[in-house]
Amino acid sequence: MWKPDRDSSQPLYQQIADDIERRISYGEFPPGSQLPSERKLAEQLRVNRSTVVLAYSELRALGIIESRSGSGTRVSRHKWGATPKHTPNWHRYVEGGSFLPNPLFLRRIREALQQDKTLIDFASGELGADLSPVKEINTIIDKNYTEYLGYDNPQGFAPLREALVAYLSQYRGIHTTESSILITSGSQQSLYLITQCLLTPGDAVAIEDPSYCYSLPMFQSAGLRLFRLPVDHKGVRSEDVYSLYKKHRIKMVFINPNFQNPTGTFLDEERRKQLLDVASELGLPIVEDDPFSLTAYDGSPPRPLKSMDSIGSVLYIGSFSKIAASGLRVGWMVAPHTVVERLADARQQMDFGLSVVPQQVAAQFLNSSYFQPHLSNLRMQLLYKRDLLIEALQKELPDLIRFTVPQGGLHLWCKVIPEVNDSKLLEEAIRRGVIFVPGSVYGSNSGYVRITFARPKAEQIVPGIAKFAASLRAVLG
Ligand SMILES: Cc1ncc(COP(=O)(O)O)c(C=O)c1O
Repeated sequence: MWKPDRDSSQPLYQQIADDIERRISYGEFPPGSQLPSERKLAEQLRVNRSTVVLAYSELRALGIIESRSGSGTRVSRHKWGATPKHTPNWHRYVEGGSFLPNPLFLRRIREALQQDKTLIDFASGELGADLSPVKEINTIIDKNYTEYLGYDNPQGFAPLREALVAYLSQYRGIHTTESSILITSGSQQSLYLITQCLLTPGDAVAIEDPSYCYSLPMFQSAGLRLFRLPVDHKGVRSEDVYSLYKKHRIKMVFINPNFQNPTGTFLDEERRKQLLDVASELGLPIVEDDPFSLTAYDGSPPRPLKSMDSIGSVLYIGSFSKIAASGLRVGWMVAPHTVVERLADARQQMDFGLSVVPQQVAAQFLNSSYFQPHLSNLRMQLLYKRDLLIEALQKELPDLIRFTVPQGGLHLWCKVIPEVNDSKLLEEAIRRGVIFVPGSVYGSNSGYVRITFARPKAEQIVPGIAKFAASLRAVLG
């Protein structure tokens, strides 16, 4: 007799449900026939009764079987008898495909934010509406008249690439040409294209620990083997890159060197040089994910690796998300032309390229007289919010939290000194009206929280931290 496979990654109840469905479709259990009781089937299959209960309830939810008190469980006549209509088994479909689900905490945060619009949001890693150039962008939209709304070049709207050539030279010291720029729908898509088009399942890559949480499942879904580069107060160390290469033949290094998410650190100048030296010695590509650099509060962002890269080791990724508006979904990549061509070709298959409308708006915004004052104002506002947050934490939790003050970016990375259960703290905080991201989402470090100060309104920061502090004290008892 068939038995479920205890070594399979598929849950036992699912295997049992599949088997019963199979037997029904082969006619072993005709429409209206009685199925074994849960207890009996559990004995036959040597599983807990609760596993069979789950399997039956899955089949019931699909309308394949019916249970009535007193007469047990039967194969549905409607489903398998008179009518040939069968509902697709969506449960099984959603377990297919190549995308792994996001970590549980991230799904919980998304759900809580959707359910309760009054939560004070220290979790969403983006600018609040008060920091985005909403008025300026609307003025640009009002003044713009679009003459062309057809498919465009999947590499990106030419005037935006032209504007970016000037922007990258002026603000980031990167001298490039339009043909080396690919427009993407945010840095997230640049990372996705790199993992899908330039790497192969089974390849080893190095990522920072801790690092940007939304890229972790993406790497895993692409079948990459991830090796971690510890981030200290000066960023990652080239020696660690070297030894990962020797041990695992890593194919690529992903780093976020300026005001890193989540730690806020920036890679020390000396280490930047050493990293580029190691990359050129090993012929190893570096992906420089640089969404935050222009938020440097003192107005002088660290030099990008790309500006120091004389041999073309660096794929540079930028975005409007953290310096203007994440909802524009405009990002870019600077890469050798062969790489750009390959990725643009993949774009053609995926979505025919980004809509020209946000690209036009972004190009106009970059070329406008609004851009520079917006950046100065953004830095000032971020600094103001950062200081409000730090003051509030020092007042509320002087002995329970430790952090390094970031010089740019949107986040504060806090060590919670007493040991605390991430999940309990998050649930307690949600109950009290505030939300943040538990540090364990970002890698191997436990006992941290990431507090994003760019998203809430300035006047929410002090009450938000009071709620967070009350939650922490409640969980600590
Ligand atoms: C380091 C880093 N890279 C990439 C992204 C993705 O940003 P977007 O796709 O909005 O440009 C984020 C967003 O939080 C990030 O923090």
